[in-house]
Amino acid sequence: MNSETACGTDIAVVGATGKTGKAVVAALEGRATVRQLSRTALDHPIDLDTGEGLKAAFTGCTGVYFIAPNLHPDEPAALRRALEAASEAGVDHVLYHSVAWPYSPRMPHHLDKARCEDDLRAFASRHEMRWTILQPCAYTQNFESILTGESTDLVVPYSTESKFSFVSLGDVAEVAARILLAAEEHHGATYELGGPEAMSVGDVVRLTGEMTSRSVAVEQLDVAQWMHTFGQSLGVDGRARLGAMFEFYDDRDFLAGGMVTKALLGRDPTPVRALIRGL
Ligand SMILES: NC(=O)c1ccc[n+]([C@@H]2O[C@H](COP(=O)([O-])OP(=O)(O)OC[C@H]3O[C@@H](n4cnc5c(N)ncnc54)[C@H](OP(=O)(O)O)[C@@H]3O)[C@@H](O)[C@H]2O)c1
Repeated sequence: MNSETACGTDIAVVGATGKTGKAVVAALEGRATVRQLSRTALDHPIDLDTGEGLKAAFTGCTGVYFIAPNLHPDEPAALRRALEAASEAGVDHVLYHSVAWPYSPRMPHHLDKARCEDDLRAFASRHEMRWTILQPCAYTQNFESILTGESTDLVVPYSTESKFSFVSLGDVAEVAARILLAAEEHHGATYELGGPEAMSVGDVVRLTGEMTSRSVAVEQLDVAQWMHTFGQSLGVDGRARLGAMFEFYDDRDFLAGGMVTKALLGRDPTPVRALIRGL
């Protein structure tokens, strides 16, 4: 049964110009009228730090997908502004883009997402709003340049043998689109999204080398060295949040399993090997 009820549905995607948002907008194309929201979005400029533009951008929308800026210093405050505006605008359903394992006290940006989940559930029940939460594991596309051949060297500040349930961003976006188009079925659900296999970045690099003629390599730097080379554009807070995440990854595997993703997609999730280009 196709339960999508898109005709005439306006959906606002907050963070539409970012990596995740672009994938979600592409997945919704032709299935709903999409409003793309961000500071630089041409039609619907908004600012999550002030709340500017949010209510006007949400007015007339049935659903909102809230994707917070990566490593935002105060994601709960940004979400609160969006929820107030969504409620005032009469939005029926909010889908919140969280992360796998939000309650990880050693990672402040995960913990902020755990707080956001709790705030959303409380706000929605007080305001008779529908809600759904997605908790994706790390995207396979975080290693896009290695997978496409744009780059042949990968440098990470954590163990190259820690395992992840890498999930394809395309699969996450398709799941998000399905939920946004069938809000009633997914009201009150929290879904953890992983890919079909547990792999380390070492495994990804070795598989890319085996499947292509490319000579690819991975190197581990310590966090301070990595920040010195790659983290110059980040502020103090962003460095602290990212550094804590890298230390967490160094310490253990970060897994989510792929069965929920499979059930929501109605097909097997995309394995890493399917995203390797230039075979
Ligand atoms: N990468 C992963 O593996 C992964 C896995 C699970 C969850 N996540 C989560 O996914 C979320 C999105 O990550 P991403 O990499 O897609 O982010 P991104 O590429 O940095 O995109 C951020 C978006 O937010 C907008 N934005 C930034 N500041 C804003 C503000 N003050 N007001 C309004 N819009 C603002 C940006 O557009 P403008 O600059 O035009 O405003 C952009 O559209 C993050 O919360 C991250 O934790 C990521």
